[in-house]
Amino acid sequence: MATATAKSPTTTTAKPPQVKDQPLLIGGKWQDSVSGKTFATVNPANGETICQVAEGDKADVDLAVKAARKAFEGPWSKMNASERGRLLNKLADLVEENAQQLAALESLDNGKPYKDSLNIDVPMSVKCYRYYAGWADKIHGKTIPVEGPFFCYTRHEPVGVVGQIIPWNFPLLMQAWKLGPALATGCTVVLKPAEQTPLTALEVARLAQEAGIPDGVLNVIPGYGPTAGAAISGHMDVDKVAFTGEHTTGQIISEAAAKSNLKRVSLELGGKSPNVVFADADLDAAVEGAYFGLFFNQGQCCCAGSRLFVEEKIHDQFVEKILKKAKAQKVGDPFDPQTTQGPQVSQEQCDRIMGYIDAGKKDGAKLLTGGNRAGGKGYYIEPTVFDGVKDEMKIAKEEIFGPVMNILTFKDADEVVRRGNQTFYGLAAAVWTRDITKAHRIANGLRAGTVWINCYDVFDAAAPFGGYKMSGHGRELGEYALELYTEVKTVYVNLQ
Ligand code: NAI
Ligand code: MG
Repeated sequence: MATATAKSPTTTTAKPPQVKDQPLLIGGKWQDSVSGKTFATVNPANGETICQVAEGDKADVDLAVKAARKAFEGPWSKMNASERGRLLNKLADLVEENAQQLAALESLDNGKPYKDSLNIDVPMSVKCYRYYAGWADKIHGKTIPVEGPFFCYTRHEPVGVVGQIIPWNFPLLMQAWKLGPALATGCTVVLKPAEQTPLTALEVARLAQEAGIPDGVLNVIPGYGPTAGAAISGHMDVDKVAFTGEHTTGQIISEAAAKSNLKRVSLELGGKSPNVVFADADLDAAVEGAYFGLFFNQGQCCCAGSRLFVEEKIHDQFVEKILKKAKAQKVGDPFDPQTTQGPQVSQEQCDRIMGYIDAGKKDGAKLLTGGNRAGGKGYYIEPTVFDGVKDEMKIAKEEIFGPVMNILTFKDADEVVRRGNQTFYGLAAAVWTRDITKAHRIANGLRAGTVWINCYDVFDAAAPFGGYKMSGHGRELGEYALELYTEVKTVYVNLQ
């Protein structure tokens, strides 16, 4: 996720911070879970426990929903929208002021290189909070000329208490994408961070308190999916659930939502995004973009360009350049400033990725580089490149979510659009060419929520992001995300 405008703070080195055991947050109170249980959050760089975290479950979710309902009906609904905006701006300022501390915590818990946390995740989160702070007092309905002696208008009201279940690949940023529009529209929140990475969500909640956001507006319940997550998605008094993660989890959450109170659901569920490089592209730019589009964040991106379609006639040149980059990748300690690739988030993810590498070999893809675990301890995997990948291979169909590039070749534009669309996902896509007509034709033909032309992983808080098909529904970011968190009320006034 790169933006050309992300501000780079000056200090770019840090040490892994010491972290105390963590409580959960309900109604402004930091407390143990009702069961008293805790779970360990682990440092992926060495497999050691960082600290214990209060393990939320149904009883905690019940209390959190009560607190969120009280805040929704109380101070939060009575507050002027402009004041909500001011508080969100204050939160943005505090996140920015604490950039180094948050970035270090993110890298400790998730394993991403510290300089990425500092230069990408934190500034993009700040921009997201600021963007939605600006919306808080600009959310309004319409007046509609209806037939008869009636004055008709709409109000865009907050949907109510929302559950937000976020993943571990961008903990700070996914929290910002979810909290920003929820708080701007006047909703209150029960947030469950991923069990692998609960630490920064709790820290941001502390900053939200410091900013003056009233008790109960943001409740944070760390815990596991089938327990705390399921309690949120199946809760009768949660009005909406927003989720980012695996598509099969999205199905479970949708089902729980449907079977409880038919709460509204928005889903962002990953993909198998085609990245199409034509022979007439600026080759060096395409190589850079293809490399970053796959290996950024240890390959743990929902929009990773994990089906790299290269036009046959430039294949050899392209592969040579990609391999040079893969060999220059520095895999290692997230806190070493030289590191460009940290560990995968967990043992489980590491095993899953190694399983895909085995499948690639077994299916007959040609392993050009990598393919092994790296380092003695921690969850490191070598940057891996497969060539000669065919559409029907498992590695070309399923989300790998790791540093594994798959190169496929194609001959012409119609063919690559057809093959690019042969997936049940539809999150993102990219095309590299100097031919502007061809670029737009491909962009129109690919069924995906975002298409990048001669770039990859460009994000902006103002521009929507989300998926077609099984990549989910609803759009986060931008003005579109406000729709996820508002109900439209129609009011008729009799003028006679
Ligand atoms: P997951 O979808 O199981 O986890 C994401 C979040 O959902 C976590 O907070 C988890 O606790 C919660 N969750 C899990 N089961 C739940 C349930 N039954 N009810 C409610 N909440 C539940 O993803 P996981 O298992 O961590 O990773 C597996 C794969 O999912 C990855 O290899 C990757 O392919 C994909 N994934 C995609 C992401 C994306 O950004 N689209 C993010 C994370 C994972
Ligand atoms: Mg799971």
